[in-house]
Amino acid sequence: MSESIVLTRGVPANESFAIDDLVECAESALRDYGTTILQYHPPKGFLPLRAAIAEREGVPVEQVILGNGSIQLLDLLIRTTLSPGDVVLVERPTYDRTIKALRRAGCQVHGIPVESDGLAIEALTRAMQRWRPRMLYLIPDFQNPTGATLSAAKRTAVMSLAAQYETLLVADLPYRPLRYWGQDAPALSDCGDAPLVQMSSFSKLISPGMRVGWMIAPEPMIEAMSTLVESACICPGMIPQGMVYEYLRRGLLEPALERLKALYAPRLRACLDSLERHVPGAHWVKPEGGFFLGVTLPEGITARAVREGAKAQGVTLSDGGAFFPDGDGSRFLRIPFCGVAENDIETALTHVGAVIQEMSVTGR
Ligand SMILES: Cc1ncc(COP(=O)(O)O)c(C=O)c1O
Repeated sequence: MSESIVLTRGVPANESFAIDDLVECAESALRDYGTTILQYHPPKGFLPLRAAIAEREGVPVEQVILGNGSIQLLDLLIRTTLSPGDVVLVERPTYDRTIKALRRAGCQVHGIPVESDGLAIEALTRAMQRWRPRMLYLIPDFQNPTGATLSAAKRTAVMSLAAQYETLLVADLPYRPLRYWGQDAPALSDCGDAPLVQMSSFSKLISPGMRVGWMIAPEPMIEAMSTLVESACICPGMIPQGMVYEYLRRGLLEPALERLKALYAPRLRACLDSLERHVPGAHWVKPEGGFFLGVTLPEGITARAVREGAKAQGVTLSDGGAFFPDGDGSRFLRIPFCGVAENDIETALTHVGAVIQEMSVTGR
């Protein structure tokens, strides 16, 4: 049998890494900022990179902290702002590591269904009334794992509810710069005035191995997080931050984004076309960017059975249950399309469709 096609991890394509550019950035960063980035450093991260992000995002530099990936910053935020028993609302489904980090901190995690245009606002309203949650965690653009983007009208509704209930809204934005077609939705900060934390990362834009993520939060939260960083690890890894700063300073990010879009857009198209052609009876959000597309299987067909059937055809799919705070997800498949070439996507989804059709016929 030919090599298996792996559709489990949301990783960038290996061919997307700008290795030559990064070699040059590493050399310049070490030569030009070596005594800073080779030394112990204050915990909030490399000041020139914090300042560059502050400028791009239009916020004071004091509100920006850098970390070893955005997931570390989320963990720090959770540990410094929440207490065991606190209620946190998330999308259902959502990024599995966020659910894990919240549970590790002893929080109660409740899910709000995701529709094709983002959170179900009626369900959110009822949950806000009932739980008065401390935090609402959202991936507003090209959500992991469904691919849904929160519409402009829903952004205003979410901001207004967060303001009314004084709930901290945490917007996780790693996929926002990766729009392949269509129009950007407005930034949440332009849709109202609620307590807001925004976080993102260079993992999907430059390299996840560099582990450079950022967070914008009110200053007292940044201070609490940096105190925790200092006692836990002194400072994040500084050499990658110097390299990322150099990458931005040389104007390499914008052309890199264009290259990524040119590489990934055809993969998303292949995914959408193949689903349409080969996977009848299922439904899915039609993302316009990002890394993922979530498929809900037809009634009576379980993701577990499809996974097993697809595995026999050399296609590895992930367990959808981890993305659901209530552990359900029995009919959910996440398709990460960026790290897989178009013909492999088509082959994989042809097999998935055949497995589903076979099950529908045999009533399995
Ligand atoms: C929504 C979301 N947040 C955070 C992360 C983690 O990013 P980082 O590599 O910056 O820790 C991911 C990675 O897949 C993600 O999908």
